[in-house]
Amino acid sequence: MEKVLIIGSGIAGLSAAIECAEKGMEAILVSPFPSERSQSVLAAGGINAVLYEDGEDSIDSHVEDTLKGGLFIAGENAVRGLCVDAPRIIRWLERKGTVFTTKENGRIDQRAFGGQSHKRTCYCGSATGKQIVTALVMEARRLEGMGRIKRIFWMDFYKALIRDGKCYGAIFYNESHADLEILRADYVIFATGGQNTMFGKTTGSTLCDGYAQGKLFMQGVELKNLEFIQFHPTTLETAQKRLLVSEAVRGEGGRLYYLENGKRVYFMEELYGEKGNLMPRDVVSKTMDQTGQEIFLDISFLGKKEILRRIPEVYELCLKYRGIDISEESIPVSPSIHFFMGGIAVKNNHETNISRLYAIGECASIYHGANRLGGNSLLAAIHGARVVAADLEGAGAAAKTDSLPDAAFEKELEEERTSLNQRWASESTFPVKYIKDMLAESLRSDLGILREEAKLRNGMEDVSYFMSVQDKIRYDRSEMAFLGFSVPSILALAKAVLVCADFRKESRGAHVRSDYPDRKKEWEAATIISHDQGAYRTRLDMEREYES
Ligand code: FUM
Repeated sequence: MEKVLIIGSGIAGLSAAIECAEKGMEAILVSPFPSERSQSVLAAGGINAVLYEDGEDSIDSHVEDTLKGGLFIAGENAVRGLCVDAPRIIRWLERKGTVFTTKENGRIDQRAFGGQSHKRTCYCGSATGKQIVTALVMEARRLEGMGRIKRIFWMDFYKALIRDGKCYGAIFYNESHADLEILRADYVIFATGGQNTMFGKTTGSTLCDGYAQGKLFMQGVELKNLEFIQFHPTTLETAQKRLLVSEAVRGEGGRLYYLENGKRVYFMEELYGEKGNLMPRDVVSKTMDQTGQEIFLDISFLGKKEILRRIPEVYELCLKYRGIDISEESIPVSPSIHFFMGGIAVKNNHETNISRLYAIGECASIYHGANRLGGNSLLAAIHGARVVAADLEGAGAAAKTDSLPDAAFEKELEEERTSLNQRWASESTFPVKYIKDMLAESLRSDLGILREEAKLRNGMEDVSYFMSVQDKIRYDRSEMAFLGFSVPSILALAKAVLVCADFRKESRGAHVRSDYPDRKKEWEAATIISHDQGAYRTRLDMEREYES
């Protein structure tokens, strides 16, 4: 039986654990927090699928919209696999207990979302992620009760066990023992989410910081398309984070405008016609930024009854966190970081350049190219899990015949433990929070919607400075966020993002350069970056996709 270690317990990790267990593998799901606190819970608007081919929509159209929305740098075979699987995924979710919003005839309702030629976003009010997590947690617990899944919480990924290009498990920081420990497995699947808190406040979870990607990068795992960072057009400032005002609002007819001499200017509609408010996110965010105006979103004309029926959670959030009654007033919105198209480079079977090490969900980069369409991220998270489970089914023996004894990793564990204990004992006065806050501020200022060489180089200088003082940072074991061991890897990831943004001398999707404003054919490819003994090496991947 294959032993599969899944790191991260959001929708991607849960789906992988369930699928692996159902295929007869031993699934171990490890996470620093329960699924109910994962980023997936925040996913609002929906999940795309062509459910009924009796209308005008088709799988081909979903493929075309996804490739076009991503500005033609995602692999067509991978995207086709995603779109073909989508209707099966919706049925799978229904069987697992997800309650989708339905029409009077009992069919699942589908709403319009940005960059899509048809209404194909299935939804659960405006809390789709939460509903899916609830259903999948129940299923995981059921399988756990049957001894087919083991869930372990309060364990932080620390380091992968890699020898000669193969992965054998990982080292974790066990919060209850405040110590490091090893978990061995035949295969390891990373489902650790995006890089959110590296940038400070975003729409995402404050628990996703990109550490796993940074650490794996330093351990020889290639990363891809890091320069493509999605700004969601409609977010609302709150004390803790940027509140997502779901694209569902515009899907339900919401209109963006600014005021000129007291009159509303519906700038997206003026520029792009009827579908203006639902252009892909890169286009809407860039246009909002270029107006230089304060932007508002109006959905009040729908009326309170319909608002409460179709987007109840948006209504509640705006009222609760900002005192705005959206059935009466417009919402002041601005773009903010929402999603990372870039991440761990994977082949079409989701394996990385390290054998037996896989990545799925937002931490992986495969389907979304230079800009993700709303509704495709939940889909990709579940599809990736299903692809890996299918790939691993029956593959166990191969890894077992070529394994290493536990003793092979004991020295490494002891060295890491000693170094961590030394850092905790240090008297330094340089707190972790200081570096993290400074890094976030620097990245927000130098890696915004509009980029240019001078700013990117400035960002790199800042990161180099933070790296030069990283050995002086005080690690503190009293609070998770300040443990400190994540800092060098997060800095390495931040530098890699800046290097990729500097490398790509064109504008494409979410990567907009004021000094290279045009999209260029010769750049129609993914960026791959690798870490080679401190050197950051970038290249264009003209092949786009690799069959396993
Ligand atoms: O706006 C939203 O509801 C976000 C959806 C998504 O990112 O897929």
